[in-house]
Amino acid sequence: MEQQTLTFEPAEVAEIERLKSLYPHPKAALMPVLWMAQKKWGWLSEDVMRTVADVMELPYAHVLGVARFYTMYFKKPMGRYHIQVCTNVSCILRGGDKLFELLCEKLGIGNNERTPDGRFSIEEVECMGACGGAPMIAINEDYYENVTFDDVERILQSLPD
Ligand code: FES
Repeated sequence: MEQQTLTFEPAEVAEIERLKSLYPHPKAALMPVLWMAQKKWGWLSEDVMRTVADVMELPYAHVLGVARFYTMYFKKPMGRYHIQVCTNVSCILRGGDKLFELLCEKLGIGNNERTPDGRFSIEEVECMGACGGAPMIAINEDYYENVTFDDVERILQSLPD
């Protein structure tokens, strides 16, 4: 398959250079740069990862390895609203597993899937460090703690298109 030409804007390249300058070895900036790329293009396709490899002057295999290791990097398109439901110990004791099950049922999708309209995707995750607010979920980068299924339904309805 032919590689699609993707480019970072000059301001983004400047930010990448700034990130590289923060570390003794510029390679260490790969994670924030992958995050930037995911925000820009929505997910890390092969073309996106090759573009990141070019700008980071790293082998594609290295970029692929890092992207594959961390679940926060999407290797397929996810929803505009990505819902993460914690089912680790504190959250499971307070119903996180049931919440995950009910949300999957409501959205008609399973773990790491997205709705046909592209609005939502859902993922069962390990502890997100908000155990004191169990059960908790995250929608994109916002945390919601001590949530019930009714709360989550209200939150989903209130999200803009
Ligand atoms: S166990 Fe759910 S946030 Fe820690």
